[in-house]
Amino acid sequence: MTTAERTHRMIDDAHGISDTRHCISSADFNVDDLRQLFQLAEQCARFAGDERFSSLLNNKTVATLFYENSTRTRVSFELAAKRLGADTVHLSADGSSIKKGETLNDTLDTLIALGCDAVVMRHPISGIAKKAASFLGSRAALLNAGDGCGDHPSQGLLDAFTLHQYFKGELAGKKITIVGDALHSRVIRSNLVLLNTFGMEVHVCGPVAFVPKHFAPLGCLIYHKLEDALNGADAVMALRLQQERQQSGLIASLGEYHREYGLTLDRLKQWAKPNAPIMHPGPMNRGVEISSTLADCPQRSLIRRQVSNGLLVRQALLIRALIPQTIPEILSW
Ligand code: NCD
Repeated sequence: MTTAERTHRMIDDAHGISDTRHCISSADFNVDDLRQLFQLAEQCARFAGDERFSSLLNNKTVATLFYENSTRTRVSFELAAKRLGADTVHLSADGSSIKKGETLNDTLDTLIALGCDAVVMRHPISGIAKKAASFLGSRAALLNAGDGCGDHPSQGLLDAFTLHQYFKGELAGKKITIVGDALHSRVIRSNLVLLNTFGMEVHVCGPVAFVPKHFAPLGCLIYHKLEDALNGADAVMALRLQQERQQSGLIASLGEYHREYGLTLDRLKQWAKPNAPIMHPGPMNRGVEISSTLADCPQRSLIRRQVSNGLLVRQALLIRALIPQTIPEILSW
Protein backbone atom coordinates (compact mmCIF):
# COMPACT_ATOMS: atom_id res chain seq x y z
CA MET A 1 0.00 0.00 0.00
CA THR A 2 1.42 3.42 -0.92
CA THR A 3 1.70 6.25 1.61
CA ALA A 4 -1.15 8.03 -0.17
CA GLU A 5 -3.33 4.94 0.15
CA ARG A 6 -2.46 4.60 3.82
CA THR A 7 -3.32 8.24 4.37
CA HIS A 8 -6.69 8.01 2.72
CA ARG A 9 -7.76 4.51 3.70
CA MET A 10 -9.43 4.77 7.05
CA ILE A 11 -11.09 2.49 9.48
CA ASP A 12 -14.65 3.51 10.10
CA ASP A 13 -14.85 2.76 13.82
CA ALA A 14 -18.60 3.01 13.99
CA HIS A 15 -19.13 0.30 11.38
CA GLY A 16 -15.89 -1.58 11.81
CA ILE A 17 -15.26 -1.55 8.06
CA SER A 18 -12.22 -0.52 6.11
CA ASP A 19 -13.34 2.36 3.94
CA THR A 20 -11.71 4.24 1.07
CA ARG A 21 -13.44 7.57 1.18
CA HIS A 22 -11.47 10.67 0.33
CA CYS A 23 -10.17 11.36 -3.18
CA ILE A 24 -7.35 13.86 -2.83
CA SER A 25 -4.79 13.02 -5.47
CA SER A 26 -4.39 10.81 -8.50
CA ALA A 27 -1.54 9.17 -6.56
CA ASP A 28 -4.27 7.57 -4.41
CA PHE A 29 -4.91 5.08 -7.24
CA ASN A 30 -2.80 2.07 -8.23
CA VAL A 31 -3.36 0.20 -11.51
CA ASP A 32 -5.91 -2.17 -9.95
CA ASP A 33 -7.86 0.74 -8.45
CA LEU A 34 -7.84 2.44 -11.84
CA ARG A 35 -9.07 -0.61 -13.71
CA GLN A 36 -11.85 -1.05 -11.17
CA LEU A 37 -12.82 2.62 -11.39
CA PHE A 38 -12.94 2.44 -15.20
CA GLN A 39 -15.10 -0.71 -15.07
CA LEU A 40 -17.39 1.11 -12.71
CA ALA A 41 -17.56 4.11 -15.09
CA GLU A 42 -18.42 1.71 -17.93
CA GLN A 43 -21.22 0.23 -15.82
CA CYS A 44 -22.51 3.76 -15.20
CA ALA A 45 -22.77 4.17 -18.99
CA ARG A 46 -24.39 0.74 -19.54
CA PHE A 47 -26.94 1.12 -16.79
CA ALA A 48 -27.76 4.83 -17.25
CA GLY A 49 -31.39 5.25 -16.25
CA ASP A 50 -31.64 1.76 -14.70
CA GLU A 51 -33.47 1.95 -11.39
CA ARG A 52 -30.76 0.01 -9.55
CA PHE A 53 -28.32 2.77 -10.49
CA SER A 54 -30.57 5.73 -9.97
CA SER A 55 -31.20 4.72 -6.36
CA LEU A 56 -27.63 3.83 -5.34
CA LEU A 57 -27.09 7.05 -3.39
CA ASN A 58 -30.61 7.54 -2.06
CA ASN A 59 -30.39 9.10 1.43
CA LYS A 60 -26.91 10.54 0.69
CA THR A 61 -26.22 14.24 0.35
CA VAL A 62 -23.38 15.61 -1.76
CA ALA A 63 -22.24 19.22 -1.38
CA THR A 64 -20.25 21.04 -4.06
CA LEU A 65 -18.15 23.71 -2.35
CA PHE A 66 -16.43 25.92 -4.91
CA TYR A 67 -14.02 28.74 -4.01
CA GLU A 68 -13.04 29.04 -7.69
CA ASN A 69 -15.06 29.21 -10.89
CA SER A 70 -16.01 26.04 -12.71
CA THR A 71 -18.38 24.82 -15.39
CA ARG A 72 -17.58 21.21 -16.31
CA THR A 73 -16.33 19.93 -12.95
CA ARG A 74 -19.10 21.43 -10.90
CA VAL A 75 -21.96 20.54 -13.23
CA SER A 76 -20.75 17.00 -13.83
CA PHE A 77 -20.21 16.24 -10.13
CA GLU A 78 -23.66 17.61 -9.39
CA LEU A 79 -25.30 15.64 -12.22
CA ALA A 80 -23.33 12.52 -11.27
CA ALA A 81 -24.69 12.71 -7.72
CA LYS A 82 -28.25 13.32 -9.00
CA ARG A 83 -28.07 10.42 -11.49
CA LEU A 84 -27.28 8.13 -8.56
CA GLY A 85 -30.17 9.43 -6.48
CA ALA A 86 -28.29 11.69 -4.03
CA ASP A 87 -29.47 15.07 -2.81
CA THR A 88 -27.15 17.86 -3.87
CA VAL A 89 -26.41 21.30 -2.53
CA HIS A 90 -24.08 23.92 -4.02
CA LEU A 91 -22.08 26.56 -2.21
CA SER A 92 -19.81 29.05 -3.94
CA ALA A 93 -17.54 31.60 -2.31
CA ASP A 94 -19.69 34.36 -3.78
CA GLY A 95 -23.12 34.31 -2.21
CA SER A 96 -22.32 32.36 0.97
CA SER A 97 -20.94 33.10 4.44
CA ILE A 98 -17.44 32.53 3.01
CA LYS A 99 -17.84 36.12 1.76
CA LYS A 100 -18.38 37.17 5.42
CA GLY A 101 -15.07 35.64 6.44
CA GLU A 102 -16.16 32.19 7.59
CA THR A 103 -13.21 29.78 7.81
CA LEU A 104 -13.07 26.65 5.69
CA ASN A 105 -13.30 24.42 8.77
CA ASP A 106 -16.41 26.24 9.99
CA THR A 107 -17.99 25.87 6.55
CA LEU A 108 -17.14 22.15 6.52
CA ASP A 109 -18.55 21.73 10.04
CA THR A 110 -21.75 23.44 8.92
CA LEU A 111 -22.12 21.10 5.94
CA ILE A 112 -21.59 18.10 8.24
CA ALA A 113 -24.16 19.41 10.75
CA LEU A 114 -26.62 19.64 7.85
CA GLY A 115 -26.04 15.99 7.03
CA CYS A 116 -23.70 16.10 4.01
CA ASP A 117 -21.98 12.77 3.33
CA ALA A 118 -19.52 14.05 0.71
CA VAL A 119 -17.98 17.41 -0.04
CA VAL A 120 -16.68 18.06 -3.54
CA MET A 121 -14.31 20.98 -3.06
CA ARG A 122 -12.42 23.32 -5.39
CA HIS A 123 -10.05 25.79 -3.78
CA PRO A 124 -7.24 28.10 -4.95
CA ILE A 125 -4.70 26.87 -2.36
CA SER A 126 -2.55 23.87 -3.34
CA GLY A 127 -2.55 21.15 -0.68
CA ILE A 128 -5.70 22.35 1.08
CA ALA A 129 -7.78 19.34 -0.03
CA LYS A 130 -5.61 17.04 2.06
CA LYS A 131 -6.01 19.30 5.11
CA ALA A 132 -9.78 19.45 4.61
CA ALA A 133 -9.90 15.65 4.35
CA SER A 134 -8.05 15.18 7.62
CA PHE A 135 -10.31 17.76 9.27
CA LEU A 136 -13.37 15.81 8.08
CA GLY A 137 -11.88 12.45 9.05
CA SER A 138 -14.58 9.81 8.72
CA ARG A 139 -17.44 12.30 9.08
CA ALA A 140 -17.69 12.85 5.30
CA ALA A 141 -15.78 12.09 2.13
CA LEU A 142 -13.73 14.87 0.59
CA LEU A 143 -13.43 14.80 -3.20
CA ASN A 144 -10.84 17.20 -4.52
CA ALA A 145 -12.21 19.12 -7.51
CA GLY A 146 -8.93 21.03 -7.97
CA ASP A 147 -6.66 22.66 -5.40
CA GLY A 148 -4.61 25.58 -6.73
CA CYS A 149 -1.77 24.30 -8.92
CA GLY A 150 -1.77 21.06 -6.91
CA ASP A 151 -4.01 18.25 -8.08
CA HIS A 152 -7.21 17.66 -10.03
CA PRO A 153 -7.74 13.93 -9.71
CA SER A 154 -11.19 13.66 -11.30
CA GLN A 155 -9.94 15.49 -14.42
CA GLY A 156 -6.82 13.29 -14.59
CA LEU A 157 -9.01 10.21 -14.20
CA LEU A 158 -11.47 11.22 -16.90
CA ASP A 159 -8.58 12.01 -19.24
CA ALA A 160 -6.99 8.62 -18.55
CA PHE A 161 -10.38 6.92 -18.99
CA THR A 162 -10.86 8.69 -22.34
CA LEU A 163 -7.42 7.53 -23.53
CA HIS A 164 -8.07 4.02 -22.18
CA GLN A 165 -11.32 3.92 -24.22
CA TYR A 166 -9.75 5.39 -27.35
CA PHE A 167 -6.77 3.02 -27.36
CA LYS A 168 -8.91 0.06 -26.19
CA GLY A 169 -6.91 -0.43 -23.01
CA GLU A 170 -3.54 -0.49 -24.84
CA LEU A 171 -1.83 2.53 -23.30
CA ALA A 172 1.61 1.12 -22.45
CA GLY A 173 4.31 2.51 -24.75
CA LYS A 174 1.97 5.04 -26.43
CA LYS A 175 3.37 8.53 -26.70
CA ILE A 176 1.30 11.49 -25.53
CA THR A 177 2.40 15.09 -25.98
CA ILE A 178 1.04 17.68 -23.57
CA VAL A 179 1.45 21.28 -24.72
CA GLY A 180 0.99 24.47 -22.76
CA ASP A 181 1.14 26.12 -19.38
CA ALA A 182 2.33 23.18 -17.31
CA LEU A 183 3.65 25.35 -14.49
CA HIS A 184 0.23 26.61 -13.41
CA SER A 185 -1.73 23.47 -14.29
CA ARG A 186 -3.11 21.06 -11.70
CA VAL A 187 -4.44 18.95 -14.58
CA ILE A 188 -0.96 18.06 -15.79
CA ARG A 189 0.18 17.04 -12.29
CA SER A 190 -2.72 14.60 -12.00
CA ASN A 191 -2.17 13.40 -15.56
CA LEU A 192 1.56 12.78 -15.18
CA VAL A 193 0.96 10.35 -12.31
CA LEU A 194 -1.80 8.44 -14.11
CA LEU A 195 -0.28 8.32 -17.60
CA ASN A 196 2.95 7.00 -16.09
CA THR A 197 0.99 4.43 -14.09
CA PHE A 198 -0.33 3.12 -17.43
CA GLY A 199 3.17 3.09 -18.95
CA MET A 200 2.65 5.91 -21.45
CA GLU A 201 5.60 7.98 -22.66
CA VAL A 202 4.78 11.58 -21.77
CA HIS A 203 6.28 14.53 -23.65
CA VAL A 204 5.64 18.01 -22.28
CA CYS A 205 6.17 21.12 -24.41
CA GLY A 206 5.95 24.86 -23.90
CA PRO A 207 8.10 27.93 -23.34
CA VAL A 208 10.80 27.61 -20.62
CA ALA A 209 8.71 29.85 -18.35
CA PHE A 210 5.83 27.30 -18.46
CA VAL A 211 7.76 24.05 -18.70
CA PRO A 212 10.73 24.36 -16.35
CA LYS A 213 13.30 21.57 -15.90
CA HIS A 214 11.87 20.51 -12.54
CA PHE A 215 8.97 18.83 -14.38
CA ALA A 216 11.21 16.06 -15.72
CA PRO A 217 11.38 14.08 -12.43
CA LEU A 218 7.55 13.99 -12.42
CA GLY A 219 7.84 11.49 -15.27
CA CYS A 220 8.14 13.27 -18.63
CA LEU A 221 10.50 14.43 -21.34
CA ILE A 222 10.68 18.18 -21.79
CA TYR A 223 10.61 20.05 -25.11
CA HIS A 224 10.55 23.71 -26.00
CA LYS A 225 10.07 23.23 -29.75
CA LEU A 226 6.60 22.08 -30.79
CA GLU A 227 7.73 20.16 -33.86
CA ASP A 228 10.11 18.01 -31.79
CA ALA A 229 7.51 17.35 -29.11
CA LEU A 230 4.75 16.37 -31.56
CA ASN A 231 6.99 14.15 -33.65
CA GLY A 232 5.32 10.71 -33.73
CA ALA A 233 2.79 11.49 -30.98
CA ASP A 234 -0.08 9.00 -30.65
CA ALA A 235 -2.22 11.57 -28.81
CA VAL A 236 -1.95 15.27 -28.00
CA MET A 237 -3.32 17.24 -25.06
CA ALA A 238 -3.54 21.04 -24.92
CA LEU A 239 -3.42 22.90 -21.61
CA ARG A 240 -5.12 26.22 -21.06
CA LEU A 241 -3.00 29.30 -20.67
CA GLN A 242 -3.85 29.99 -17.00
CA GLN A 243 -3.82 33.77 -17.20
CA GLU A 244 -5.43 34.16 -13.76
CA ARG A 245 -2.50 32.36 -12.08
CA GLN A 246 0.36 33.90 -14.04
CA GLN A 247 2.49 36.87 -13.24
CA SER A 248 2.47 39.25 -16.20
CA GLY A 249 5.30 39.15 -18.71
CA LEU A 250 5.76 35.37 -18.88
CA ILE A 251 4.90 35.41 -22.58
CA ALA A 252 5.40 38.19 -25.13
CA SER A 253 1.83 38.11 -26.50
CA LEU A 254 -1.04 35.69 -27.08
CA GLY A 255 -0.46 35.95 -30.83
CA GLU A 256 3.18 35.00 -30.49
CA TYR A 257 2.31 32.13 -28.13
CA HIS A 258 -0.11 30.78 -30.75
CA ARG A 259 2.53 31.05 -33.47
CA GLU A 260 5.05 29.07 -31.38
CA TYR A 261 2.89 26.63 -29.43
CA GLY A 262 -0.66 26.82 -30.79
CA LEU A 263 -2.07 23.41 -31.75
CA THR A 264 -3.64 23.39 -35.22
CA LEU A 265 -4.94 20.66 -37.51
CA ASP A 266 -2.09 21.35 -39.97
CA ARG A 267 0.56 20.95 -37.28
CA LEU A 268 -0.91 17.70 -36.04
CA LYS A 269 -1.15 16.38 -39.62
CA GLN A 270 2.45 17.40 -40.27
CA TRP A 271 4.12 16.13 -37.12
CA ALA A 272 1.99 13.76 -35.06
CA LYS A 273 0.96 10.19 -35.99
CA PRO A 274 -1.87 9.98 -38.56
CA ASN A 275 -5.24 10.61 -36.88
CA ALA A 276 -3.68 11.36 -33.46
CA PRO A 277 -6.56 12.69 -31.33
CA ILE A 278 -6.58 16.04 -29.54
CA MET A 279 -7.71 16.57 -25.94
CA HIS A 280 -8.26 19.69 -23.82
CA PRO A 281 -9.62 19.80 -20.25
CA GLY A 282 -11.49 23.05 -21.00
CA PRO A 283 -12.21 25.86 -20.79
CA MET A 284 -10.41 26.60 -24.08
CA ASN A 285 -8.79 29.80 -25.20
CA ARG A 286 -9.66 29.34 -28.86
CA GLY A 287 -7.00 30.77 -31.16
CA VAL A 288 -4.41 30.74 -28.35
CA GLU A 289 -3.45 27.21 -27.23
CA ILE A 290 -5.74 25.52 -29.78
CA SER A 291 -7.31 26.52 -33.10
CA SER A 292 -11.08 26.26 -33.48
CA THR A 293 -10.66 24.05 -36.55
CA LEU A 294 -8.79 21.46 -34.49
CA ALA A 295 -10.98 21.77 -31.39
CA ASP A 296 -14.12 21.18 -33.48
CA CYS A 297 -12.64 18.56 -35.85
CA PRO A 298 -14.95 15.53 -35.53
CA GLN A 299 -12.25 13.09 -36.65
CA ARG A 300 -9.67 14.35 -34.17
CA SER A 301 -11.25 16.02 -31.19
CA LEU A 302 -12.00 14.04 -28.03
CA ILE A 303 -12.88 17.21 -26.14
CA ARG A 304 -16.64 16.58 -25.96
CA ARG A 305 -16.00 12.93 -25.16
CA GLN A 306 -13.84 14.07 -22.21
CA VAL A 307 -16.79 16.09 -20.89
CA SER A 308 -19.30 13.24 -21.17
CA ASN A 309 -16.80 10.78 -19.70
CA GLY A 310 -16.42 13.21 -16.79
CA LEU A 311 -19.98 12.43 -15.79
CA LEU A 312 -19.30 8.67 -15.77
CA VAL A 313 -15.98 8.89 -13.93
CA ARG A 314 -17.45 11.21 -11.31
CA GLN A 315 -20.33 8.81 -10.74
CA ALA A 316 -17.75 6.08 -10.23
CA LEU A 317 -15.82 8.31 -7.80
CA LEU A 318 -18.96 9.03 -5.77
CA ILE A 319 -19.76 5.33 -5.56
CA ARG A 320 -16.18 4.62 -4.45
CA ALA A 321 -16.37 7.38 -1.86
CA LEU A 322 -19.81 6.66 -0.40
CA ILE A 323 -20.70 2.99 -0.96
CA PRO A 324 -17.42 1.14 -1.64
CA GLN A 325 -18.85 -2.08 -0.21
CA THR A 326 -21.36 -2.18 -3.12
CA ILE A 327 -18.73 -2.09 -5.88
CA PRO A 328 -18.37 -5.89 -6.39
CA GLU A 329 -22.13 -6.21 -6.75
CA ILE A 330 -22.36 -3.32 -9.23
CA LEU A 331 -19.57 -4.82 -11.32
CA SER A 332 -21.42 -8.12 -11.46
CA TRP A 333 -24.57 -6.57 -12.98
C1 NCD B 1 -9.25 22.72 -15.38
C2 NCD B 1 -9.05 23.29 -14.00
O1 NCD B 1 -9.93 23.96 -13.46
O2 NCD B 1 -7.99 23.04 -13.48
N1 NCD B 1 -10.55 22.83 -15.87
C3 NCD B 1 -11.41 21.84 -15.60
O3 NCD B 1 -11.58 21.43 -14.47
N2 NCD B 1 -12.04 21.29 -16.66
C4 NCD B 1 -8.30 23.26 -16.37
C5 NCD B 1 -8.22 24.74 -16.53
O4 NCD B 1 -8.86 25.52 -15.84
O5 NCD B 1 -7.44 25.13 -17.38
